[in-house]
Amino acid sequence: MNRARRSYLGLGIYLAALLLLPITLTGQTSVPQPPPILLGTAWYPEQWAESRWEADLALMQQAGIHMVRVGEFAWSRMEPSEGRYDLDWLDRAVAAAAKHEIYTVLGTPTAAPPAWLTQRYPDTLRVDEEGHRAEHGNRQQFNFANSKYRDLARKIAEQMAKHFGHNPFVIGWQIDNEYADVSFDAETKVQFQQWLKMRYGTLDHLNAAWTTSYWSQTYSDWNQIPIETRYGNPGLLLSWKRFVSDTWRSYQKNQLDVIRPNCDSRQFITTNTMGWFDGFDHYTVEQDLDLAAWDDYVGQGHLDPAKNGAADDLTRGFKRKNFWIMETQPGFVNWAGVNTSLDKGEVRAMAWHNVGHGADTVSYWQWRSALNGQEEYHGTLVGADGTPVPLYPEIQQLGADFAKAGSVLAGTSPKSEVAVLHSYDSRWALQWQKHNREYDPVAELVSYYRPLRAISQSIDVVQASDPLTAYKLVVAPGLNVLSDTAAKNLAEYVRQGGHLVLGQRSAMKNDDNGLQLEGQPGPLVELLGGRVEQYYALVDPVPVTGRFGASQGKLWAELLNASSQDVEVLATYGKSNGWLDGKPAAITRQVGKGRITYFGAWLDDAGMAAAAKWMAQTSGVKTALGPVPEGVEVYPRYGSNGAVYILVNFSKTQQTVPLPSRMQDVLEGGARQSVTLPRYGVAVLSANR
Ligand code: GAL
Repeated sequence: MNRARRSYLGLGIYLAALLLLPITLTGQTSVPQPPPILLGTAWYPEQWAESRWEADLALMQQAGIHMVRVGEFAWSRMEPSEGRYDLDWLDRAVAAAAKHEIYTVLGTPTAAPPAWLTQRYPDTLRVDEEGHRAEHGNRQQFNFANSKYRDLARKIAEQMAKHFGHNPFVIGWQIDNEYADVSFDAETKVQFQQWLKMRYGTLDHLNAAWTTSYWSQTYSDWNQIPIETRYGNPGLLLSWKRFVSDTWRSYQKNQLDVIRPNCDSRQFITTNTMGWFDGFDHYTVEQDLDLAAWDDYVGQGHLDPAKNGAADDLTRGFKRKNFWIMETQPGFVNWAGVNTSLDKGEVRAMAWHNVGHGADTVSYWQWRSALNGQEEYHGTLVGADGTPVPLYPEIQQLGADFAKAGSVLAGTSPKSEVAVLHSYDSRWALQWQKHNREYDPVAELVSYYRPLRAISQSIDVVQASDPLTAYKLVVAPGLNVLSDTAAKNLAEYVRQGGHLVLGQRSAMKNDDNGLQLEGQPGPLVELLGGRVEQYYALVDPVPVTGRFGASQGKLWAELLNASSQDVEVLATYGKSNGWLDGKPAAITRQVGKGRITYFGAWLDDAGMAAAAKWMAQTSGVKTALGPVPEGVEVYPRYGSNGAVYILVNFSKTQQTVPLPSRMQDVLEGGARQSVTLPRYGVAVLSANR
C-alpha cells in the first residue's frame, strides 16, 4: 500500500471511529463495543463496484444491521497472484462499514482457492473416494491434509491477521467456511496410517482392538491399512472419522496459530458449522476456538422448533456458552427440493427462537446476490436491482427489537436442569450398522428432547464426558459407543444423586466400536442391575404398557432383564413376536440418592410425552416459566439481574400466556401479568426490572 493511501485510510478509520467510539469523561477513547445482540449479514464487497458500497451499507444501517461477515470467498481478490497481496480494498470496506456503525467479522478465504493456486499446485486439489480429483469452478476443491495447501492458507491468514488484528472495527475471525469435504489421496492415506500408529502404538494393539482375526483382516504393516467409510471393520471406520476430525482440527490450527498472535485478544476466532452435520467430531475441532457458530437453514418447509432448537443447544454445548448464528436464510434457500419461503413473520420468530437458545448474533446469508454465480436464486435482503425485498421491513423490525432488548439480554445465557447427551462416535456407529434402515439417531435424540423441552423449557446438549453434576436429569438417547472414562463420569453422576436415563442401543460398543463384553449397557450393567438380553429390529410397532400408559414401541425393541431385586420394571411389551411378550421394556433402579433408568423401547409421541413427565417428576425438574399453550415456546436466559423470558408463538393461532408474576414487556413497554401473541408473535419479558 502506498504511503498517501495509507494516511487517507487512516483518516477514514479515525473519522469512523469518532462516530462510534464512546468518549469517556476524561476525554479518553476506548475500543468501540458492538451491541450485545447483533443483527448481521454476509456481504461480498468484492463482487460490487466500490461506488455501490455506500448505498448498501446505508440500507443495512437502516435495517439495524451492525455486523457484516466479509471475505470468506475472496482469495483471488486478496492475493491475485502468488505472494502479491492486496488488502487495501478490504481496508476500505471495513472503514466504509464502520461509518455506518457496522462491525466486521473477517473470514479467511481458504474455502475458495484461486485458479492460479490450483493450476500451479494441482496436488492441493482433493480426491474423492472414487479417485477423481476435483477441479476449479466450484468451491471447497482443496485437500484439507495437503501440506502445500496449508502453507498457502497460512500465509493468506497471516497477512490478514497482521493487517486487521488491531483494527477496532474488526471484532472477530471466521476460519474457512463450513468444513466438509475430505480427501482420499495417497498423501492423506499415509497420514491416516501414521495417525493410527500414534493412537495404537503397535499393530498388535490395533489388531486386538479391531479383532482383525475376523475375515483375515490382520495387519502386519501399517501401510496395509486402507481407508474405509462404509463397509469396513467398525474399528477402522471409527478411526477414519477420528482421523478426519483431528485433521480438520490441525487444518484450522494452521490458521489459528498465525491469527492469534497477530490480533487483539478482544477479537474472537470461530468457524461456521452446520447443525447436525456429522462429517467430523465437532467437539474435537471446537476446543481450539473462542466461540461456536453455526449456519441455520431450514430449507424446504417450516421451522421445527424442537429439532432446530436441539441443534442450537448442540452448538451451544460445543463451548458450553452462548454462540452465534453466522448464517441463516432470508426467507428461502436455493438448494432444497422445493425452495419454499418461510412465512411472513416466521423469519423474525426464528431469529428470536435462536436468541432464546443462546445466540448472541443472527446474521443473514446473504445481503445481495452476485449477478452471476451458483446461488443466483437464493434469498437475499436486497434484490438484484439493489432495492429492499419484501422481507426487508421484517428484518428492520428485528433490528429495532435487538436495539430495544440488547441491554436486557446482555450477559444473559440459558441454564438448564436437564442435559441430553450427544456423541458423534455413537451417531456414526449407529449409521454404519443401523440394523433397521429407518433408524435415525438424530430423530431418536429429538424424540426425547421434544417432550423434555416442553416440560423444562430449557435443555443443554452436551457430551457424556462433560461435567454433569449440576443437572437434575441426564438423558442419553442412543449412547451407542461408550468409553470407560465417559462411563465412569456417568456412574459418578448417579452416585452423586443424579438421574441418568439411557435410551435404547446405549453402551453396546466400546471406544473402538467393538462389542462390550458385558452386553448392554456395558460398564453400566452393574449399576443398572439389569441388562439387554436381546434386541429386535421391528417393521411393525409393538405394544408397550406400564407407567407411561398404553403406547407403542417403534423400529427397535430391546428385551430387558432385571438381575437385581431392587430394579423396578416401568413398562412391559405386549403381545408381539413371542420373544418380547410380557418382558420388561423399561427398568429403573434407585442407587443411593441417585437413579439409573433404561428404555429398551422407542416409544411413540404419546408414550414419550408420558415418559418425559415421569422423568421430570422423578428428578425434580421444574418448568422454567410455567405452563404455556401448546405451540408457544419459552426461552429463559439468566443473568445477574435475574431471568429474561423470550416467548414465541409457533402455533397456528393467537395465544394468551398467563405469567407467574408481573413482568416488564421489553419490546412493547409496560408491565404485564399475561401476554397475547399472534401467530409468530414474540415477547421479551424481564422478571426483575
Ligand atoms: C452455506 C454457505 C454459504 C451459502 C449458503 C447458501 O452453506 O456457507 O456460503 O452457500 O450455504 O444457503
